[in-house]
Amino acid sequence: MPNVPIITQNDGTKIPAIGLGTYTSLGGDCERSVRDAIDAGYRHIDTAYFYENEEEVGRAIRDKITEGVIKREDIYVVTKLWCHFHDPEKVEYACRKSLKNFGLDYVDLYLMHWPYGYVHRGDNEMFPTKANGDVELSDVDYVDTWKAMEKLVGLGLTKSIGVSNFNSQQLKRLLSNCTIKPIHNQIECHPGLNQKKLIALCKELDLIVTAYCPLGRPDPAKKTPSYLFDPKVQEIGKKYNKSAAQVVLRYLIENGVVPIPKTVTKHRLAENIDVFDFKLSAEDHKHMDTYNTGERLIPMDHALKSIHYPFNIEY
Ligand SMILES: NC(=O)c1ccc[n+]([C@@H]2O[C@H](COP(=O)([O-])OP(=O)(O)OC[C@H]3O[C@@H](n4cnc5c(N)ncnc54)[C@H](OP(=O)(O)O)[C@@H]3O)[C@@H](O)[C@H]2O)c1
Repeated sequence: MPNVPIITQNDGTKIPAIGLGTYTSLGGDCERSVRDAIDAGYRHIDTAYFYENEEEVGRAIRDKITEGVIKREDIYVVTKLWCHFHDPEKVEYACRKSLKNFGLDYVDLYLMHWPYGYVHRGDNEMFPTKANGDVELSDVDYVDTWKAMEKLVGLGLTKSIGVSNFNSQQLKRLLSNCTIKPIHNQIECHPGLNQKKLIALCKELDLIVTAYCPLGRPDPAKKTPSYLFDPKVQEIGKKYNKSAAQVVLRYLIENGVVPIPKTVTKHRLAENIDVFDFKLSAEDHKHMDTYNTGERLIPMDHALKSIHYPFNIEY
């Protein structure tokens, strides 16, 4: 079993330094990969109401508890409030709905998935649209959504709360208007968008950064992202007896973030978690810095008109 470091967060809770992403993991593939991940040593699973796989993730976790492989307290479960549940009146309902999907009494971390919201047209209508095809944005302020999320901690429905896709201004505004401080900001982060400025701010504010799309959503046919397919990165990997993907994950960890690579492939589960027994040389780390173009894989352009759209300032 790989020796995964444990990080203490600003509310005293502890999180494993790598997790399993599950976006696009569906049905039997999802359930099997979460089981395999637990067997491979993963103790941190990332999902979201939006991914429509909470039931499968929950079933796999509960099976592993029944088998005696883990206890509930051994595994860190993260899920997220989707944008159509931002109305403070809907937040507790949404969290209870996720818990029901999982078949669990609590989650470890409940994140606000995005700072902007949508109107609610039905629990399963993730992108409510107007007649012209535009997504129907709501004007709910994320500070009000946050205040409703704070209550979930007191109710014991989640151990901790945090945010995702918040920019520097939104984080500062939230921090000066909250009773419970977020413990996390989950953001897109990979060598192509290494987020050094936002990471530095989060460190200053004592927030853990989780890196989503840590591998840059590889497309082997197009050989993208460049850093994963660059022979130079493969060469760097050879020095440490590691793959290019392991070099990328190690680079992110050395930048102070918690990556959550997604895979449903058994040998990649083992590969992605096996990144704590080597260190990139200063020169190799510096080479990985050269891929930072700042380009986003997930710009969420449909929300550009929201006053809470997060990507219209530098960071
Ligand atoms: N908060 C947010 O707004 C947000 C947004 C996006 C994602 N997320 C979270 O972050 C997680 C990770 O992001 P992501 O899934 O978008 O992208 P990713 O982890 O960068 O890439 C996933 C892809 O990489 C492949 N892969 C995994 N390990 C590999 C390896 N060692 N070598 C080569 N290919 C490998 C996977 O293929 P196979 O599965 O076929 O092996 C899958 O196609 C998500 O699953 C989700 O939990 C959060």
